[in-house]
Amino acid sequence: MPPNGTSCASEMEHLFRRSRVLKTLLSLSLVLATFLMIQKFKVVDFRMKEVRMDMKNSLRGTLQWKTKDNVARNIAAPVRESAPATWNISAINCTADSVVLSQSWFQNLDPRFHRFVLHRHCRYFPMIMNHPEKCAGDVDLLIVVKSVIEQHDRRQAVRLTWGKEHTINGKRIKTLFLLGTPAPEKDARNLQKLIEYEDRIYGDILQWNFMDTFFNLTLKEINFLRWFNIYCKNVRFIFKGDDDVFVNPTNLVDLIDFRIKEDMVQNLFAGDTISKAVPIRNQKSKYFIPKELYDKPYPPYAGGGGFVMSSHLARRLFTVSEKMALFPIDDVFLGMCLQELKVAPEKHPGFKTFGIVKHKASLMNSEPCFYRHLIVVHKMSPEELMRMWDTVHDEKLTCTRKSVDLTLEVE
Ligand SMILES: *[C@@H]1O[C@H](CO)[C@@H](O)[C@H](O)[C@H]1NC(C)=O
Ligand SMILES: *[C@@H]1O[C@H](CO)[C@@H](O)[C@H](O)[C@H]1NC(C)=O
Ligand SMILES: *[C@@H]1O[C@H](CO)[C@@H](O)[C@H](O)[C@H]1NC(C)=O
Repeated sequence: MPPNGTSCASEMEHLFRRSRVLKTLLSLSLVLATFLMIQKFKVVDFRMKEVRMDMKNSLRGTLQWKTKDNVARNIAAPVRESAPATWNISAINCTADSVVLSQSWFQNLDPRFHRFVLHRHCRYFPMIMNHPEKCAGDVDLLIVVKSVIEQHDRRQAVRLTWGKEHTINGKRIKTLFLLGTPAPEKDARNLQKLIEYEDRIYGDILQWNFMDTFFNLTLKEINFLRWFNIYCKNVRFIFKGDDDVFVNPTNLVDLIDFRIKEDMVQNLFAGDTISKAVPIRNQKSKYFIPKELYDKPYPPYAGGGGFVMSSHLARRLFTVSEKMALFPIDDVFLGMCLQELKVAPEKHPGFKTFGIVKHKASLMNSEPCFYRHLIVVHKMSPEELMRMWDTVHDEKLTCTRKSVDLTLEVE
């Protein structure tokens, strides 16, 4: 302890002030870095136009598709007529569930799950950023990407590659990012300013006022389903995925075209589907689920990395989700809703979101021809995504055969 009290106090004050200055400086440089990054990507965006021209050249079969399209559009009538016309949630009313506190199963539950269970009944949150205009007019494919504020470089890479809003094979594609709010221990105020700046430039962020945590991903799911049900009457298909995967939108559109042709649209839900999975009881796992919370095998579900569904099914999923208890793993929760609807999620060979990343030497990590023939491929960094995108769309790349037959159904 220093001998002199007053000098200690002034020293403290000095230190405190200094750290405040430091903090402000740090925040400012963060803002600047983001600004520079966005500028840099704008330059890259220009270069990417050439790539897109290449994709447009592959336009084919549009007319034939149109007639079938109208038939499918009539089938996909909205399920719910009584939905509100706007997002009418303006206050958070999320008091902890006091009833559950006294129950013994709750007391035995791993404390990591306490917060989840106490707030399990809180479903819909106010929106901080909304874009109802995204779904105005006819949209064939709405791409929605789960993201968090800090990952703006991933969002930027998605905007420049598979999330680019354009028309493929006559299909109009729109893209949105789904976000919550940063945890308070992060530099929340400045992060919020950054995301608002980003949204002013791109106008593609939906943000809800709940904390962006792993266990809150199911909130993202149900708030999006409700949002979709309100605003997107004329959207036909949804692709929902992570911000760190590779997607081949041309093949995705091919898959959709094929399903329309075969009249297999109504309950379309396809992805990297897992059947007969069981809850992970290893407490060290990110996906650990205690027995007290769930004690059965999981229903079949599609990995959250990326899946496609029809708007008709999305509306039915919204309706059924309202009566299901929330589950902390979002893709399993959707599996539970599908099971309730008696719809089996389809396992499609074009979706490869699991189990490749560990083998760095695997062809899957480097061979562009795989990427050319698949629909969704596992995690990669923004730089890898941009590089692979360029390679896959390079006219000089020749692939000898289709490694995956996309019109083939497996199950
Ligand atoms: C929002 O609107 C729906 C349908 O009109 C209504 O049932 C619901 O109670 C409203 N919610 C709020 C929070 O006002
Ligand atoms: C919030 O929810 C609680 C319990 O669900 C209810 O008693 C209370 O009236 C609600 N408050 C508001 C402002 O809606
Ligand atoms: C989810 O978000 C709400 C609202 O921000 C927060 O109160 C809650 O603690 C979060 N839940 C979990 C499990 O992180």
